[in-house]
Amino acid sequence: MVGIPALESLFAPSLHADAAEGPSSALDIEDAPLAALVDGIESDGHGLVMCMGKGGVGKTTVAAAIAVALARRGHAVHLTTTDPAAHLSETLHGSVAGLTVSRIDPAAAIQEYRAHVMDTKGRSMDDEGRAALAEDLMSPCTDEVAVFRQFSRVVQESRRHFVVMDTAPTGHTLLLLDATGSYHREISRQVGNSLGFVTPLMRLQDPVGTKVILVTLAETTPVLEAEELKADLERAGIHPWAWVINNSIAAAHPRSPFLRARAAHEADQITKVRAMAERVALIPLLPEEPIGEAKLTALTAFTTQRV
Ligand SMILES: Nc1ncnc2c1ncn2[C@@H]1O[C@H](COP(=O)(O)OP(=O)(O)OP(=O)(O)O)[C@@H](O)[C@H]1O
Ligand SMILES: [Mg+2]
Repeated sequence: MVGIPALESLFAPSLHADAAEGPSSALDIEDAPLAALVDGIESDGHGLVMCMGKGGVGKTTVAAAIAVALARRGHAVHLTTTDPAAHLSETLHGSVAGLTVSRIDPAAAIQEYRAHVMDTKGRSMDDEGRAALAEDLMSPCTDEVAVFRQFSRVVQESRRHFVVMDTAPTGHTLLLLDATGSYHREISRQVGNSLGFVTPLMRLQDPVGTKVILVTLAETTPVLEAEELKADLERAGIHPWAWVINNSIAAAHPRSPFLRARAAHEADQITKVRAMAERVALIPLLPEEPIGEAKLTALTAFTTQRV
């Protein structure tokens, strides 16, 4: 809105009439239910699902919805998060049969790791040695090792049942993957080329064991950022299994002219993601926050809500 005539138009009664002729052809967005992704995840009987993406796009919501759907289909599911600021319990809002919830808490992980090292390595040392070791364990790189240990444990667990992981916004997650990569290189160096070892990175790279889901919004910048994350992951040999476009107005098939105009802007981004991704699910922008078992379950129902 630039210039006096434009600003004056804000007061014009005809404002709504203009919007009434909203575009329509771009709005024939094909539904892509999250339920189809759940079917794909379920078919392997176990495995790790990691929801990644930038802040606020719906990672926690998508992770919780998938975990609830798998639990309701009768599977044992562990829903966990590497996000220090996670709010899984707020999203779930109560317990769900078959679903265990936990979080990788950096502070607790560090304490546990320090205690473990003092108990094992420190056991046979004299007081001076133990003091030096304790000081060593205060370094920031200990923190990374500690969080990584818990992360590996969860990755390991996904060989037996479903583990759905909600991650912290992109930057933090890339650090964790870096640690995973360094650990892998260190083990490979120590063990040499002999077969018979599987590092957490190798599990993350295994498309059967791990399914990475990139969550984004149907907007230019979030899609570009998700593309960058995809490139970073691919450099680490990890290929995203699916993309979820969340908060889509187009997917809500709106009738209001104003919302139809907004929905039309999403079409290019949805087309772009569809061209890039092997699998896509679209979640409509909902009138209410999807919190609690019932609303999360509705996210993986086949029909989308119309507004
Ligand atoms: N499709 C949707 N329709 C309406 N509200 C939604 C939808 N998806 C998520 N929300 C709401 O948007 C907010 C952000 O979602 P969520 O917490 O899942 O994002 P996040 O990516 O985990 O965020 P963070 O990066 O902060 O962890 C929450 O309040 C959630 O309930
Ligand atoms: Mg979150």
